[in-house]
Amino acid sequence: MSTTFRERDIISITDFSREEILALCASGQRMAELERSGKRNSLRDALKHRTLSSLFYEPSTRTRTSFNTGMRELGGRYDGFSGTEGTSVMKNETVRDTITMMCANHNDVIVMRHPLDGSLQWAADVASIPVINGGDGKNEHPTQALLDVLTIYALRGERLDGLRVGFGGDLSHGRTVRSLSLALSHFDDITIRWAAEDFLGMPEDLVQLLSARGVTVIRDASVRDVMRQVDFYYMTRPQLERMQGVRQKDIVAMMKQYRIDMPKIEGVSTRLLHPLPVNSEIAEIDHRVYFTPAQAFFAQAEYGIFLRKALLHEMLGHDGYTRYSGKLPAELGVGNNRLARAILAGKQSGMFIDKITNGTVIDHLAAGTLRAVSDALDLENRGYSCTTATITEKPNPFIKTNLRDLPERDLKRIALLSPEPTINTVAEGRIVEKYVYLLCANSNCITRTINEDVPPRFFNDEGSIRCRYCRRPLAVAHRKVTAEDLRAYTASLPTRIQPVAYPD
Ligand code: CP
Repeated sequence: MSTTFRERDIISITDFSREEILALCASGQRMAELERSGKRNSLRDALKHRTLSSLFYEPSTRTRTSFNTGMRELGGRYDGFSGTEGTSVMKNETVRDTITMMCANHNDVIVMRHPLDGSLQWAADVASIPVINGGDGKNEHPTQALLDVLTIYALRGERLDGLRVGFGGDLSHGRTVRSLSLALSHFDDITIRWAAEDFLGMPEDLVQLLSARGVTVIRDASVRDVMRQVDFYYMTRPQLERMQGVRQKDIVAMMKQYRIDMPKIEGVSTRLLHPLPVNSEIAEIDHRVYFTPAQAFFAQAEYGIFLRKALLHEMLGHDGYTRYSGKLPAELGVGNNRLARAILAGKQSGMFIDKITNGTVIDHLAAGTLRAVSDALDLENRGYSCTTATITEKPNPFIKTNLRDLPERDLKRIALLSPEPTINTVAEGRIVEKYVYLLCANSNCITRTINEDVPPRFFNDEGSIRCRYCRRPLAVAHRKVTAEDLRAYTASLPTRIQPVAYPD
């Protein structure tokens, strides 16, 4: 199997094969050996004249500086921003426009961190140069997972099969546990054990995904129980910035029995990993533990430099050129965010709808959302009527408008207020198209923002529908669609994330 990373986007750890992960581990090990044998300079011209654009919308110490270090030691340069203060993001510039500018700025590769889940897939769709995910919301952090695997690979004698890993801290709001556990799922006989409060526990969708990939996932009652039965314990920081309305003191109370302190590591041979930073106020790792043989997280951070340097070398270590042409990539447009209930060409627009000749009827609106939807669409100024009709015992609120072919922004606005509305397109007094508009279920997904204009798109992941951007599963089972329609729709989706085709 080919393991080339040339010109590739690095978005999700699920895009990697076992062979590719192992190839990167071997490459990272070679970087470590060069460093340890005093031969760092042997690659000092490898990326001469190549530039990394480093776009960090969120704070970072390790990810940002290790990519910069890797680039510098390979003879390349880096540019970009750390925090959005002083950039035009403060003036509401979109991700699409920012990325397009970075391509125009003669960069060769982008590494980006952004608070919205799925924003990195969107950046990759827009960019004409390779994009590396430096962390998107609580979704993924693939290069962290790769450096974590490299650390384990190096410390465990280059073996990954049969590994037992414990997870602790915040398994719910972070991205590193998701990415690392999915990376490990490529290997045989992997056991994951964890102990945490329900609120901070492992998300059910992740447990299901791991189990389907053959990983044994066990919840234990205590950190000690986990520690005794694993080779590595991966502690994580409670991600307060992603918990709305939760106070730090509540988290401190929740973490009390899950902190890593001296009694917990006593008598166990487990090595302690942590993606870092440690929150010094919550102190999920007691500072005394730092000075014990269990502590491996600073070595882990150094493996981050080797891994990222290796990755940049693999991606750019060849004759290259910047492909920016001044053209925007093709619009993704509408398409697979529509679950067609029926194409009803020829059917009258319906007895309960005052006849409209051309326009749109939106029904299956959630109770109480009629006015909000009309206002969001500004129908008062654009031409509309809305009403509640009683066609069964239950009132059925719907909107009819003379507007045809509602743009993506309008459809998204409607779905954000009233999930999964049914859209009926009327032409010449007849319904010609009827579909359910699908929006990703993850409220932090970039497709749910209006200004970014990212159209919801889905793909078929072995029979289940997932968001193209944040890759979360979509639940549509409750819709009034037949199982057959649903199967046909799922089968019509692309089966993998396809790169966007660029015009010549
Ligand atoms: N582990 C990690 O992503 O660290 P930074 O937030 O400092 O980049």
